[in-house]
Amino acid sequence: MLEIEFIEPRLPARGALILLVGEGEKPSGVWQAAEEATAGAIGRALAAAEFKGSKNQICTILAPGAGLTRVAVVGLGSREGDAAKATMLAAEEAGGTAIGALLREEAVALAAPSLSPAELAAAAFGAVLRSYRFDRYRTREKEEEKPRLARLSVLTDKPQAAEAAYAPLRAEAEGVYLTRDLVSEPANVLTPAELAQRAEQALSTLGVTVDVMGPERLRELGFGALLGVAQGSANEPRVVVMRWSGAGPTTQPVAFLGKGVTFDSGGISIKPASGMEDMKWDMAGAGTVIGLMATLARRKARVNAVGLVGLVENMPSGTAQRPGDVVKSYSGQTIEVINTDAEGRLVLADLLWYCQEQFNPQWMVDLATLTGAIIISLGHEQAGLFSNNDELAERLIAAGKKTGERVWRMPLGEEYNQQLKSDIADMKNVGGRPAGAVTAAQFLQRFTNDKPWAHLDIAGVAWNTKDSAVVPKGASGFGVRLLDQLVAGYYEERPEQG
Ligand code: BES
Ligand code: MN
Ligand code: ZN
Repeated sequence: MLEIEFIEPRLPARGALILLVGEGEKPSGVWQAAEEATAGAIGRALAAAEFKGSKNQICTILAPGAGLTRVAVVGLGSREGDAAKATMLAAEEAGGTAIGALLREEAVALAAPSLSPAELAAAAFGAVLRSYRFDRYRTREKEEEKPRLARLSVLTDKPQAAEAAYAPLRAEAEGVYLTRDLVSEPANVLTPAELAQRAEQALSTLGVTVDVMGPERLRELGFGALLGVAQGSANEPRVVVMRWSGAGPTTQPVAFLGKGVTFDSGGISIKPASGMEDMKWDMAGAGTVIGLMATLARRKARVNAVGLVGLVENMPSGTAQRPGDVVKSYSGQTIEVINTDAEGRLVLADLLWYCQEQFNPQWMVDLATLTGAIIISLGHEQAGLFSNNDELAERLIAAGKKTGERVWRMPLGEEYNQQLKSDIADMKNVGGRPAGAVTAAQFLQRFTNDKPWAHLDIAGVAWNTKDSAVVPKGASGFGVRLLDQLVAGYYEERPEQG
């Protein structure tokens, strides 16, 4: 992970310099010093590029003089009026955008004369998020292709304040990195057993209690819906229960549940070959819950949180579940499996019921790459949010605006229930083409018992097909920042921008 240091402002003698500037901002501080040391080269370049400082606008100047290899000037947008509310996010994105252009540099300093220490910490956070790279399996990469950047020096006259603001963000970045690492792994490596082991490895040293259940225990318990999905695979299923106790023992926990299909071939209702490789990241919901638990533990969040992930591989084989099979879920409700490719909801059904029985949480949030239909509805910009509780939904929407991991509320409703009617069982697992993401959520709701609950369909946001400001192409880690903020907003009142 990119190392961050906060130091007193001075023009670096070598390396690259990032300048984050607002709309209409005039040179001051290190910006002014750089301008003078380069005999006006920066100002000339900005004028030639018609640089205005609008959000994420970037102007990169090569070898402007004074020993600098590059100067990257990135816009923060308007710093006035209502827009000021979004300055933390603007700083984060500008930091990410700048670093995206400088990964081959060795030493980089960042100056932003108009930003507060907390905003500078956000800029550093953005830089860390953007500089993620999954390179475990690159064995023949040439030196000149590898990123070199190891440390970012953030220039501030209040290094201690910036450092303090950065500490919880660094914990979040660690969680996001863990999630991205897990989601990026190929399915031949990351089987359910392996994923369970990685969760245990990553979390037990942080003070999270981790319990792993295998197929015998799950059979004893009667997790028939989850086991039906798993039965076609040579790789055994696991359910991992993670507990972080940061509040008193009498405080009711909150719960996070994740779909962890380590590979979704569709099963007997097999998917087309084209793009099937994407289904290695059908465990992103589980990956996010694991990264979130790591974050909560690392920053010692004052909350009791349980994380539950259902880990299975959905494969076609002689032992696989067939379309038309009826399974009995842990709740006792029976399900006719019309389409074996609608497997995520089967996994979550058992987890949701077990979660309430075991932990009686205040509320539950599940994350799942559940439907292609949510991508048709919302594209790759926002996750789908479904909830039986307005307060929880509104808090999630607010946390989304704050972190940039946005969610859009979709409907639930009795009307949709008839699409799930089965002729021979309590329900079927698919509701046909209309409102596919809604009927999937409606299916999950049958296992929530009216407990406050929100479902995030992250199929459109778990994987980036191109670089964005703070997420490089690949696994996004979507949800870690969102849910960490949800917890902070509910229980902790983290200091706002300073
Ligand atoms: N994992 C998929 C959903 C998905 C699709 C995630 C694309 C990410 C990208 C899920 O298990 C699935 O196959 N859903 C089906 C449901 C259908 C059979 C009712 C779908 O969306 O097509
Ligand atoms: Mn599927
Ligand atoms: Zn799936």
